Amino acid sequence: MAPPEATWLLYFDDEAAPALRLAQAAGLNAQAIERHRFPDGELKLRLPVDAAGRLPRHAVLLRSLHQPNEKLVELLLAARTARSLGVQQLTLVAPYLAYMRQDIAFYPGEAVSQQVVGGFLAGLFDAVITVDPHLHRIDRLEQAIPVPQTVVLSGAEPLADLIAERRPNALLVGPDGESAQWIAQAAARHGFDHAVCTKVRHGDRDVAIELPALNAQGRAVVLLDDMASTGCTLALAARLLLQAGAASVDVAVTHALFAGDALQVLRDAGVGEVWSTDCIPHPSNAVPMAEPLAKALQSVLRG
Ligand code: R5P
Repeated sequence: MAPPEATWLLYFDDEAAPALRLAQAAGLNAQAIERHRFPDGELKLRLPVDAAGRLPRHAVLLRSLHQPNEKLVELLLAARTARSLGVQQLTLVAPYLAYMRQDIAFYPGEAVSQQVVGGFLAGLFDAVITVDPHLHRIDRLEQAIPVPQTVVLSGAEPLADLIAERRPNALLVGPDGESAQWIAQAAARHGFDHAVCTKVRHGDRDVAIELPALNAQGRAVVLLDDMASTGCTLALAARLLLQAGAASVDVAVTHALFAGDALQVLRDAGVGEVWSTDCIPHPSNAVPMAEPLAKALQSVLRG
């Protein structure tokens, strides 16, 4: 069953390509939000409207939240304006959801960003669809973003399909305990040999990793994780695996954040291929998510 015909998919110009792919897959009417930046840095948005100057009752906003700070202001302006123009059911599709990693105050006075940003999004949207949010100490997205409907997709299985094609006998390795969930999903799908490292983080670019008991000798290893930011986690794991005799180390991640020189950091560590989903637009994108996102959207729109 198709979603209600009048549903519009609102997007910003820098995400036109993924928006049009998603709109086509979900059978929605894609409409761009105009954005003007004033000389002092403030933003002005202009939402698309029909001939009567209104928006439909159902609308979807696509915004992947890498480089999130300004985008959170965009969401505030766009969502509040959409409501004032008649939208009653507003769904956020954020293939990458920011601020999910800071989920506890490690020191007195620290902001628990997951709760703060989650509460902010819950105040704007009725439903949230995302992919592999970094939920470490909680099980369900609605614990972080208390909205009536949430859908969490995973990049692990489609990435596993790609790995099975490119490295059929891969030894799948997770760089830290948190990656165990994605390693388990991917291994269950294709029967890969698999193992998970242990990691202690000392700083943004300072991690210590211990390999699990495994025989990497001569193996084509693929490191799989939800995201790479500085690349330091995957780079250190790759170095250790190559020292342990791995024939090759490639990398597969759902979210290609790859801040600064992260790709070079991986290359310098001996990493071969880098594959990612298109949740964050990046040259490493090899797995499209439009179809699963469209299915999730159709189920949300049907209520
Ligand atoms: C955290 O546990 C995540 O799963 C990643 O391992 C982490 O964000 C990677 O960060 P970086 O690339 O900066 O080492």
